[in-house]
Amino acid sequence: MTTPSATSAGSRQWTPESWRARPIRQVPTYPDPAKLGAAEARLQGYPPLVFAGEARRLRAALAIAGEGKAFVLQGGDCAESFSDFNANIIRDTFRVLLQMAVVLTFGAAVPVVKMGRMAGQFAKPRSADMETIGDETLPSYRGDIINGPEFTSASRIPDPARMEQAYFQSAGTMNLLRAFASGGYADLHEVHRWNLDFAARSPLVERYRDLAHRIDETLNFMAACGMTSVTTPQIRETDFYTSHEALLLPYEQALTRVDSTSGDWYACSAHFLWIGDRTRQADGAHVEFLRGVRNPLGMKIGPTTEPDDMLRILDTLNPHNEAGRMTLISRMGAAHVAARLPPLIRAVERAGAKVLWLCDPMHGNTISTPSKIKTRSFDAILAEVRGFFDAHAEAGTWAGGVHVEMTGRDVTECVGGAHKLTEANLTERYETFCDPRLNAEQSLELAFLVAEELKSRRRPVGQAAGLFPAIAAQ
Ligand code: PEP
Ligand code: CO
Repeated sequence: MTTPSATSAGSRQWTPESWRARPIRQVPTYPDPAKLGAAEARLQGYPPLVFAGEARRLRAALAIAGEGKAFVLQGGDCAESFSDFNANIIRDTFRVLLQMAVVLTFGAAVPVVKMGRMAGQFAKPRSADMETIGDETLPSYRGDIINGPEFTSASRIPDPARMEQAYFQSAGTMNLLRAFASGGYADLHEVHRWNLDFAARSPLVERYRDLAHRIDETLNFMAACGMTSVTTPQIRETDFYTSHEALLLPYEQALTRVDSTSGDWYACSAHFLWIGDRTRQADGAHVEFLRGVRNPLGMKIGPTTEPDDMLRILDTLNPHNEAGRMTLISRMGAAHVAARLPPLIRAVERAGAKVLWLCDPMHGNTISTPSKIKTRSFDAILAEVRGFFDAHAEAGTWAGGVHVEMTGRDVTECVGGAHKLTEANLTERYETFCDPRLNAEQSLELAFLVAEELKSRRRPVGQAAGLFPAIAAQ
């Protein structure tokens, strides 16, 4: 083994636990190490949640998106929770993601790669270690996989048993997602039946119905040409991938396995893992862990990201500059995107680094109302998306997708949108366990607006269908 050095991460030997020797942020201190060790040992024996072959397939799809021949839609909860674990919630979020994907695919004539922030998005980085309410101060809530949201000292103690509960919940969620994606629910003939009850009084309903009608006509035409759900699996099923922030490394390590086909290590907790804005230190534990697994990876980049640091991490995580391996998820904030994103795009272009660019218009636009409720405005979210498209149009690079915090429920967490939710509405159905999410209607509206952006700026994608039929269809 070579000696660890700050400048040659790539040449150090990697093992699933080599991150343990690196400085780490945002990971809890468990009061009972023996209990932690026992939970990790059990997790290590449990079956993987995803297969290496699926992660490779996603990597290939992301490589195509990186070339400008597909668009990526990544969305779901800020934080999944143990108390919100039921089929309706999973179905509703999946359905809205499919509706958004259909709007994007059909509206902008571009294949869409679909990834949920689902089936594992449990661990949360926090800006403050402690939370104060009144005159009581307790450790912050860090996501259900670590501690509980209730403001009591017992609930805020990190508990390793939560890792196993998160694993089983992820397995249950994954099972339903797989059934939805391949069991007929995602059949394009069903678009009419994916109900829009959340948007009954919305101008979007008409637009969506019109789109569904046009899809129907297209499917009838295709059927007349011999392409039906029976003959053409792409009409009947879809590829749906899972993703989450790789924050809680003891959990991620326990689910890391050698793929028997390639002999490579894969994180088997999700297809795609990303590294958060607060844990992307070049010499830190999170970068160290992720460099050794072969999954496609994301990295959040924000207004404080320096081009050189970003390039150095890209080099560590993707030393052979493989297409599809790295996705940069830009979360600048509407006010900063025009100034902060272009230098990063230029740096990537100068270095010749192969990346896919996604826009997370949520995390740079969180505000607090006078009554201290965390929210985001739909207008700011849209402004950041437009700023992202502008920066890429200017640089001649491909604005490859969006990453959003959303839910299929009719919540009131973000202000604005077609229904013009106001601050006064926020307390009506504010259900998130962490950051404010777009509700179903706001999500769909965003998809329509993004489709318009894409359509007006689109590069030719005609060859995409031939290159990757599975993502071209829906
Ligand atoms: C998140 O995606 O929930 C998150 C915490 O994002 P970021 O690391 O960009 O702040
Ligand atoms: Co969040």
